[in-house]
Amino acid sequence: MNLFFAITFWFATAVITLGLGYKVRQYWKTEAPLLIPTTPAPTTQGGVIMRMIREVTLFESLFKSNKWIWILGWMFHFSLLLVLARHVRYFQEQPWFWVTLVQPFGKYAAYTMILGLAGLLLRRIVVDRVRYISSPSDFLMLIMLLVIGFSGLIMQLFDRPDIIGIQNYFINLMGFKIVSLPINSALVVHLVLVALLLIIFPFSKLLHAPGVFFSPTRNQADNPREKRHQPSWVANMPSSNESAES
Ligand code: HEM
Repeated sequence: MNLFFAITFWFATAVITLGLGYKVRQYWKTEAPLLIPTTPAPTTQGGVIMRMIREVTLFESLFKSNKWIWILGWMFHFSLLLVLARHVRYFQEQPWFWVTLVQPFGKYAAYTMILGLAGLLLRRIVVDRVRYISSPSDFLMLIMLLVIGFSGLIMQLFDRPDIIGIQNYFINLMGFKIVSLPINSALVVHLVLVALLLIIFPFSKLLHAPGVFFSPTRNQADNPREKRHQPSWVANMPSSNESAES
């Protein structure tokens, strides 16, 4: 198990780092040929930054379109943030101040994370038109996150693992050293699914996390009168006169 999890997590870390790097580079280099901000949209760059901040912190556009999905989606994502902040301690000998501060919040966030995920899963099952457009991966992704959450909660409540031992294992893993990992069954389920999550992240819908920043409908200013929108490849094209002459 010590070796199995070492190899799995080294591999998973490499996949998510390289995979995400590759995808973000691809998004970065993809031209947006047309100016298509969703209106009403800000007319300045500063306004776009504020809109993006509201979008990723409050899920503003989702709030405007559907309150139920907004409640469930926001609850899940905000809880996930707290849970992940609580997990930072597994990778530090001396946790940062804010990591210590967030511990009790992260603990209760497990419940709201599971509640949000369960609601989102229920929606895909009971709402006809959502079920119609749902693929197996949509369900599997939610179920995977739910099982990660449940196995974490089981450890928190019933099957207490040796937290210091787990911390020691992961800190050593970061220095490419393998020490003993004190396992229990909930931890095995938890870690196998977390590794799977890291591996599929760059190939799945979870890419919406970095992707939102590259969405032209969100990151463009509504300024076609002030500024001509021209993708970089247009500047390198021969002008229509030149091509007519040749
Ligand atoms: C290598 C990465 C991870 C390790 C070593 C790890 C380990 C643990 C451990 C030991 C617990 C029990 C905490 C306690 O008893 O106080 C726990 C709980 C939990 N984990 Fe993880 N986990 C990892 C990644 C994740 C990820 C990526 C998620 C979410 C997608 C997650 C979600 C949870 C939840 C919801 C809980 C219950 C709340 C809590 O106690 O923090 N874990 N995890």
